[in-house]
Amino acid sequence: MSTPSFLLSLSFLFLSFLSISLSQQPPKGYLIDCGATSKTAIDDREWLPDEDFISTGSSKNLTVPRLIPTFSTVRSFPLQNNLRRKFCYTARVYKGARYLIRTAYYYGGVNGVNFPSPPVFDQIVDGTFWRVVNTTEDYRKGSTSSYEAVFEAKGTTMSVCIASNTYTESDPFISSLEMLLLGDSLYNTTNFDSYALSLVARHSFGHNRSVISYPDDLFDRYWEPYAENVSVIASNNTPSVSGFWNIPPSKIFESALSTDQLEPLELRWPPLSLPNSTYYIALYFADHRDSMLSGSRVLHIHINEVRYISNLEVTSAGAAVFATRWPLEGQTKITLSSAANSNASPLINAGEIFDILRLGGRTHTRDVIALNAMKSSLRNPPLDWNGDPCLPLNYTWTGITCFEGERIRVVTLNLTSMGLSGSLSSSIANLTALTGIWLGNNSLSGTIPNLSSLRLLEVLHLEDNQFNGDIPSSLGEILTKQ
Ligand SMILES: *[C@@H]1O[C@H](CO)[C@@H](O)[C@H](O)[C@H]1NC(C)=O
Ligand SMILES: *[C@@H]1O[C@H](CO)[C@@H](O)[C@H](O)[C@H]1NC(C)=O
Ligand SMILES: *[C@@H]1O[C@H](CO)[C@@H](O)[C@H](O)[C@H]1NC(C)=O
Ligand SMILES: *[C@@H]1O[C@H](CO)[C@@H](O)[C@H](O)[C@H]1NC(C)=O
Ligand SMILES: *[C@@H]1O[C@H](CO)[C@@H](O)[C@H](O)[C@H]1NC(C)=O
Ligand SMILES: *[C@@H]1O[C@H](CO)[C@@H](O)[C@H](O)[C@H]1NC(C)=O
Ligand SMILES: *[C@@H]1O[C@H](CO)[C@@H](O)[C@H](O)[C@H]1NC(C)=O
Ligand SMILES: *[C@@H]1O[C@H](CO)[C@@H](O)[C@H](O)[C@H]1NC(C)=O
Ligand SMILES: *[C@@H]1O[C@H](CO)[C@@H](O)[C@H](O)[C@H]1NC(C)=O
Ligand SMILES: *[C@@H]1O[C@H](CO)[C@@H](O)[C@H](O)[C@H]1NC(C)=O
Ligand SMILES: *[C@@H]1O[C@H](CO)[C@@H](O)[C@H](O)[C@H]1NC(C)=O
Repeated sequence: MSTPSFLLSLSFLFLSFLSISLSQQPPKGYLIDCGATSKTAIDDREWLPDEDFISTGSSKNLTVPRLIPTFSTVRSFPLQNNLRRKFCYTARVYKGARYLIRTAYYYGGVNGVNFPSPPVFDQIVDGTFWRVVNTTEDYRKGSTSSYEAVFEAKGTTMSVCIASNTYTESDPFISSLEMLLLGDSLYNTTNFDSYALSLVARHSFGHNRSVISYPDDLFDRYWEPYAENVSVIASNNTPSVSGFWNIPPSKIFESALSTDQLEPLELRWPPLSLPNSTYYIALYFADHRDSMLSGSRVLHIHINEVRYISNLEVTSAGAAVFATRWPLEGQTKITLSSAANSNASPLINAGEIFDILRLGGRTHTRDVIALNAMKSSLRNPPLDWNGDPCLPLNYTWTGITCFEGERIRVVTLNLTSMGLSGSLSSSIANLTALTGIWLGNNSLSGTIPNLSSLRLLEVLHLEDNQFNGDIPSSLGEILTKQ
């Protein structure tokens, strides 16, 4: 078979035993119960109310009985005039560390009888569009929905935002948000400087009970049960997972899918049609027999007829293989066949597949700091002034425009007639890429800051406000530049 050119860029890694010391503590990070007003403990882990992480939206109680606590309240965001707006949770994080971000949703009819179906809206992390939230199907079945991704913290804070879009018909909402620190070796074949991973599916094959999560999974990833019309093998062999960079829970090795004879095993996995994109795929294997006694189990694996790996030897010590960048579209078929020298049928224990997202970038930090200082000196800043100011480009903060060059800078500030009160922070002088400022017809008070550092400023409108004191002499020059 000829090898398509894109295979050249793939890297496969075989894992054997490395020693990583594993702590048995729950994953560090935040468990946020959106809309809640007090802490709740579930299975000995504490969920925090969300007020310390967000300044917009309102808390609502669901009237559906018998919901688990994190789903019984939501934070709901106003859909005003169908404007595209984002509403962000911001948390302090360790710069450079990798986080598992999980959002969960249960609508419960919170937008009233006129909107029996859940709203469809977007999710954003920092400056990157993550994915659309459409919980319609799950809600119809009475289920909750969750979305998971892995992002690296690019600064000391990270924001996770809910955003309305053209298809959003009623107020977007969120039930819970988790931001959990991941070990350094997890998914480390991905270049997190430029990419993030958005989970498509994570399954424990042949497992038929409840989802596997913490404490079985040290990082509280969810491994869903998955069965197909093929034979299931139960195993008492649980290899030491410390050898696998992604540190899967050992429980995934307790069941496997296999075939009765040496015939190939075909999986329609992941069980959904994929958009045209590039994916990260990790597959996990461990022979349930004692390899020393029973001889070798050697596999060839194809994905949609394209060779993924040949002669993978699966022993009781376990193996994992990764494709770091694999293009896929539509339905996916994974075929495992026995190599000629194998005396056992193919077998597979678990799989993970992520969509690889290219990061959208971030606004220049100096501008972010200056705008946040301005925000805190305004008494009623615009509702969507949170998260990244410029990015994603179609979710820029109300009243600003940006320039996307080597650095992403704020170039104009137009808050005309927005009913703003409070004062104008002197930090505006740090927005050194500004060419125009329109703040007319508000109720701003206090002194006008020294703006002489804004060398590119060509237009300045401060009329119809309640500024007091002298017009700084530095302004004389700017006004004459017009
Ligand atoms: C939600 O329920 C809590 C506790 O039952 C109550 O304190 C709170 O006021 C309720 N919130 C709303 C918005 O009704
Ligand atoms: C949301 O999902 C439902 C059910 O799958 C589908 O009918 C609907 O078109 C989707 N909505 C949007 C805006 O994509
Ligand atoms: C913003 O851009 C993203 C990605 O390009 C797109 O999926 C999303 O629908 C856009 N949102 C709006 C409101 O145009
Ligand atoms: C991933 O982590 C493992 C275990 O710590 C390490 O041996 C390996 O070199 C790392 N790989 C990359 C690409 O950083
Ligand atoms: C499973 O497959 C066998 C043979 O391929 C078929 O006879 C049987 O009906 C299938 N069972 C289900 C539940 O699909
Ligand atoms: C679940 O799997 C176990 C073995 O893994 C099997 O004994 C049991 O019958 C299965 N239960 C169902 C409901 O399929
Ligand atoms: C899928 O995306 C790739 C890269 O963007 C593109 O080259 C290819 O033509 C796309 N395939 C289809 C069927 O749209
Ligand atoms: C500033 O914003 C106001 C109100 O949104 C708008 O009417 C005006 O045209 C804007 N001015 C500029 C220069 O963009
Ligand atoms: C001034 O702003 C208010 C809203 O705060 C608006 O109602 C009014 O029309 C504006 N006046 C002018 C002259 O634009
Ligand atoms: C402007 O930024 C510098 C650092 O870049 C900082 O030291 C200074 O305090 C800032 N000025 C204001 C008024 O915020
Ligand atoms: C305004 O700030 C500049 C430096 O950016 C400084 O040189 C100047 O003296 C200041 N003017 C006043 C009136 O404080």
